[in-house]
Amino acid sequence: MRFLGNVFIGLLGFYSLANAFNSNVGHSYPRSSAANTSSVLDVFEVYKPVEFDPPSQGCSEVLLLMEHEFALSYGKPFVGDYMPPQCDFDTVRINLTVTSKGRQFDRLAVMYLNDTEVFRTSTAEPTTNGIIWTYVKEMSQYLALWKNPQKIIFDLGNLIDSTYTGPFNVTLTASFTKEDKGRVADVILPISARQSAKNASSAFTVPGDNATVSLTFPKNAQRAVISISACGQIGEEFWWSNVLSQDTDDFNSTIGELYGYSPFREIQLFIDGILAGVVWPFPIIFTGGVAPGFWRPIVGIDAFDLREPEIDISPFLPLLANGKPHTFQIKIAGLNTPSADAISLSETVGSYWVVTGKAFIYLDDGTNTNSLTSGQPPTIDAPDPEFSFTRNLVYNATSGVNETLSYSVKAHRTLKITSGQNSWTQDLSFSNDGLLNQDGLSQRNIQNTTGTSTASGIGTDGKFAKERTSFSYPIDANTTYGLGANYTIIDAAIDRELQISSTGGLGGISTYTLVSGPIDLKTRQWGSAHYFGISGGSSTSSGDTSNEFHESSGGTTYDTFVRAVNGTVVTGNGPAGSLSLVTQGDLYPGSGRSSIRSILGRGPSSNILRR
Ligand SMILES: *[C@@H]1O[C@H](CO)[C@@H](O)[C@H](O)[C@H]1NC(C)=O
Ligand SMILES: *[C@@H]1O[C@H](CO)[C@@H](O)[C@H](O)[C@H]1NC(C)=O
Ligand SMILES: *[C@@H]1O[C@H](CO)[C@@H](O)[C@H](O)[C@H]1NC(C)=O
Ligand SMILES: *[C@@H]1O[C@H](CO)[C@@H](O)[C@H](O)[C@H]1NC(C)=O
Ligand SMILES: *[C@@H]1O[C@H](CO)[C@@H](O)[C@H](O)[C@H]1NC(C)=O
Ligand SMILES: *[C@@H]1O[C@H](CO)[C@@H](O)[C@H](O)[C@H]1NC(C)=O
Ligand SMILES: *[C@@H]1O[C@H](CO)[C@@H](O)[C@H](O)[C@H]1NC(C)=O
Ligand SMILES: *[C@@H]1O[C@H](CO)[C@@H](O)[C@H](O)[C@H]1NC(C)=O
Ligand SMILES: *[C@@H]1O[C@H](CO)[C@@H](O)[C@H](O)[C@H]1NC(C)=O
Ligand SMILES: *[C@@H]1O[C@H](CO)[C@@H](O)[C@H](O)[C@H]1NC(C)=O
Ligand SMILES: *[C@@H]1O[C@H](CO)[C@@H](O)[C@H](O)[C@H]1NC(C)=O
Ligand SMILES: *[C@@H]1O[C@H](CO)[C@@H](O)[C@H](O)[C@H]1NC(C)=O
Repeated sequence: MRFLGNVFIGLLGFYSLANAFNSNVGHSYPRSSAANTSSVLDVFEVYKPVEFDPPSQGCSEVLLLMEHEFALSYGKPFVGDYMPPQCDFDTVRINLTVTSKGRQFDRLAVMYLNDTEVFRTSTAEPTTNGIIWTYVKEMSQYLALWKNPQKIIFDLGNLIDSTYTGPFNVTLTASFTKEDKGRVADVILPISARQSAKNASSAFTVPGDNATVSLTFPKNAQRAVISISACGQIGEEFWWSNVLSQDTDDFNSTIGELYGYSPFREIQLFIDGILAGVVWPFPIIFTGGVAPGFWRPIVGIDAFDLREPEIDISPFLPLLANGKPHTFQIKIAGLNTPSADAISLSETVGSYWVVTGKAFIYLDDGTNTNSLTSGQPPTIDAPDPEFSFTRNLVYNATSGVNETLSYSVKAHRTLKITSGQNSWTQDLSFSNDGLLNQDGLSQRNIQNTTGTSTASGIGTDGKFAKERTSFSYPIDANTTYGLGANYTIIDAAIDRELQISSTGGLGGISTYTLVSGPIDLKTRQWGSAHYFGISGGSSTSSGDTSNEFHESSGGTTYDTFVRAVNGTVVTGNGPAGSLSLVTQGDLYPGSGRSSIRSILGRGPSSNILRR
């Protein structure tokens, strides 16, 4: 289906984007003033607004890419045909708008153009009166794909039965404009399972799959960056609260088996078997995780747009530019601690991670004389990472149970890869202090991940440049659950942050910072939430979440603060929007997730929701 012109540009929902691009005015969050028992809840992620509306002059097209109800959609992605618009465009943005009503899990969704993942998002959990959200995303980094016909594959696996009643109705539009904002990659090659010919999702699931592909690079590649999209599910969803593998049975009698391989994860990229760079992941929390009351209506940081960290592989170009296939492999490691003083990267992790990658390749336009065709591998300086750990399990001989487990893991790694003018360096630090007490019913993890990477080489403007990117992902999460004869409770407190600063410099739009050029981003969420579920009955989850946000990028700054209590925004920047209270009968609905284990990553996995 194809529509010309501005037909899909209507009134903006709760967004007020009019001035968003050049001032502090951005989202206007819905505020409560009185109880309303019938309205649809606006859920949102706090982020710097992205303009969707095309200008009235020049190339200006909006296409409907998808309008689809994801009901019984597990293993059945939406598949559509995309034909590029006829006008001369260099800028593409998408508007994803989703509605849902009923009870449902939060779901992961991945969008592909043929075999290449271009967007990873997740859904909010609906209420009986319904929810709606819109996320607008810059997509110009995929221009090389948008310029050609593609299959659009949107994989949002959902299930409907007598308990889980909510489908996700998704509308996806794309705007095409010409804005001359700078160069983006000329060629994009997928590191994926390449299933689009079968109308299927191209994600690898690791460790089950061997995430290895062969790629042939163009001979005139001048700069290349690999982005990696990866998030944990099931036993790896709450990886940052996992324990050392020797402690998975410590509280078997009270909370069941724990997930192992430690709370440390490293995603590794290998080119022809050589380590080319690593990613120490951000602890994403989906809307059904930890306690659902935290994430309604403010979803967790990045829940609607999972960032893809990047590894500059330009130092490998002399090796790659021989016109022959080379192998690219993505692996995920945790830690093994086989004895009291031994610690090392594990060859595998629990089940499972959803993984893809892709290469963004910038071609030499002929003005550069540097020869990248030596066939030589780069110089690698990648010493073994340094790890240390402590653990202390306290057993009470009188009661015969393990009472507490405290553990701590520290990690540090440096990596430097050089070839001629091109270099890629990383310096990463990690620490996690975990404590389980009350026989495992209560668990707190304080985790810090920080890092700096530097890429040097010839930028997209043909000149030598350097780009430095630093990040910090602290999280402090304390969750306590209790089981009564006929009820379940969870009490949780969280304080977490995502900070990224980058000098920019090499050009292109980053899949990690989501912008081109320098950025200074800091988003912090903190609060508490409570969950109460009656066995075989209904459940409720209340919460108090604050989100402080600052981003300077593209020459403008966006600052905001939002606080929501029990499903309603009580403090927010900007004018009051529409009322958005959930009904009394549906007050702070509990989780779509069906067990304490699915919400917290530990505890009973039996179904707590029977209607
Ligand atoms: C996004 O799309 C939805 C429906 O498809 C529409 O209601 C909304 O106004 C659009 N938002 C923007 C910013 O274009
Ligand atoms: C509640 O919301 C509905 C739908 O948005 C609206 O029509 C109604 O006037 C609101 N009621 C009150 C009391 O504000
Ligand atoms: C979703 O779409 C279906 C089919 O068009 C429709 O019956 C249903 O009311 C929609 N649900 C929501 C929440 O918009
Ligand atoms: C995408 O895949 C289809 C067939 O599945 C193919 O016809 C088309 O050429 C591919 N597009 C690109 C840009 O490779
Ligand atoms: C993964 O695939 C690559 C390339 O086909 C192969 O060399 C490697 O042995 C495989 N690894 C495993 C663990 O099967
Ligand atoms: C205490 O922890 C140890 C080590 O994991 C385990 O073998 C033992 O079964 C645990 N004791 C109880 C009562 O769960
Ligand atoms: C832990 O509990 C599970 C069932 O809850 C059982 O299958 C497993 O054998 C137990 N492990 C130990 C070491 O007791
Ligand atoms: C050990 O368990 C017993 C019986 O539950 C309890 O009275 C005692 O306080 C516990 N000891 C410690 C050190 O916690
Ligand atoms: C989590 O917080 C609760 C309440 O403040 C406290 O009782 C508990 O000890 C904390 N849990 C851990 C493991 O620190
Ligand atoms: C994490 O970093 C903060 C400062 O950013 C520091 O206060 C805290 O002690 C660190 N925590 C750990 C477990 O290293
Ligand atoms: C739960 O159990 C308590 C005490 O046994 C009882 O008073 C209460 O009515 C029960 N609640 C439900 C919903 O069954
Ligand atoms: C939020 O809900 C909880 C549980 O129902 C309640 O204890 C708390 O007072 C509510 N907070 C506000 C501000 O209404």
